[in-house]
Amino acid sequence: MYYESLKSFPDDFLWGASTSAYQIEGAWDEDGKGPSVIDMAQHQEGVTDFKVASDHYHRYKEDVALLAEMGFKTYRFSIAWTRIYPKGTVEINPKGIEFYNNLIDELIAHDIEPLVTMYHFDLPYALQDKGGWSNRETIDAFANYAKTLYENFGDRVKYWLTINEQNMMILHGDAIGTLDSNLENPEKELYQQNHHMMLAQAKAMILCHQMLDGAKIGPAPNISAVYPATSKPEDVLAANNFNAIRNWLYLDMVCFGRYNSVAWSYFEEKGYVPEIQEGDMEILADATARPDFIAFNYYSTATVEASRGNDDAKNSTGDQQIVIGEQGVYKGHTNQYLEKTEFGWEVDPVGFRVTLREIYSRYNLPLIVTENGLGAFDKLEEGDVVNDDYRIEYLKKHIKQCQLAITDGVELFGYCPWSAIDLVSTHQGSSKRYGFIYVNREEFDLKDLRRIKKKSFYWYKDVIASNGAII
Ligand code: BG6
Repeated sequence: MYYESLKSFPDDFLWGASTSAYQIEGAWDEDGKGPSVIDMAQHQEGVTDFKVASDHYHRYKEDVALLAEMGFKTYRFSIAWTRIYPKGTVEINPKGIEFYNNLIDELIAHDIEPLVTMYHFDLPYALQDKGGWSNRETIDAFANYAKTLYENFGDRVKYWLTINEQNMMILHGDAIGTLDSNLENPEKELYQQNHHMMLAQAKAMILCHQMLDGAKIGPAPNISAVYPATSKPEDVLAANNFNAIRNWLYLDMVCFGRYNSVAWSYFEEKGYVPEIQEGDMEILADATARPDFIAFNYYSTATVEASRGNDDAKNSTGDQQIVIGEQGVYKGHTNQYLEKTEFGWEVDPVGFRVTLREIYSRYNLPLIVTENGLGAFDKLEEGDVVNDDYRIEYLKKHIKQCQLAITDGVELFGYCPWSAIDLVSTHQGSSKRYGFIYVNREEFDLKDLRRIKKKSFYWYKDVIASNGAII
């Protein structure tokens, strides 16, 4: 649809950006923090670990001041479960509570609304040692952790996100570093873990609605529209399959309290049916386990064709945005109409609008974008200048599509690209940068970690000041 004029962004639109604890904080073992699965994982050769990251733990005041200078209305960050509960449960670490109290207070002092992710890939290693998400005890450990967060921060935090990209942890845990390499029958076990995460999320939502008056909570999956490679009905069906497995499985459960039927048939066909205990479906179907909004991360669309023959590799790809396929279900296809980033991710702003429309029409809940952005090898030029025009172009095109989606009638209440500040990528190191603020470090040379405003910093500041009228 083309419009003569576009609707404006709502007056109280939440402009901001996102980060996650392990990718930005550093101080991985300081002040009583316990190890997470990420801290204990083997790191790929040639890329840094997460021990220092962007050193935000020690520099959060300076960082928040910079976000405020850009005019942020909100800031999405995650709490490291292992700072609060070093062993995942039982003993609280007061220093962890203190750090997030300080960060939240600092944000509020700068009129920035905290948007808190409870769990962003960094499961406590002590829980992993006992089976991680395969162990049902982790469900209650998460619910207990959520309760502690509400008790300590619920007086100031109004927006909560449960689990970041649960779907990517299930589909691409190898790339992200969350996959337990000891699993004997990984796919089957992963869908069992998925079931447990769904229960943990439902319990956290129920508690939030019981404990915090007026707070709002939502899931944060990675959602992308899925295109068929051609109009061949078999390709359309393959797109339908992948959509069910990649996207709707996760959102249907949290929004409707039931398994998506195509995804369920896929489990049956492949032997992945999870064990469901008595009472599980009641928890999942509980009316108070429904989200108040849907947060989602978007980087690209996916294009697939029918899987014909036995030429398809297994689902796992070593990268969360590159689709290979699964025998008899779908097969990844390169979309010839889309350009790619330096890291091979397809760029599809129009697909962003398609995705926004699809989610909204299916669930009819307010939406917020919690990730979207361009990873690139930025160059620090003389005089502390970073000319990241390519990032500005990418974001401009995506913000335009947000406005078009709003004009389409989508209830979008915020946009938080990835990432506020440079941080360490999930598996491609610190040289893959996303931020508005450059962090002066290299892959293994920590230099002085000083903060430098990129060209996109000044551009985004103007976007926010004009409430999206000038992009
Ligand atoms: C998302 C994650 O998958 O994409 C982030 O939620 C991640 O944690 C982001 O950093 C970008 O991916 P990558 O692999 O480039 O860091």
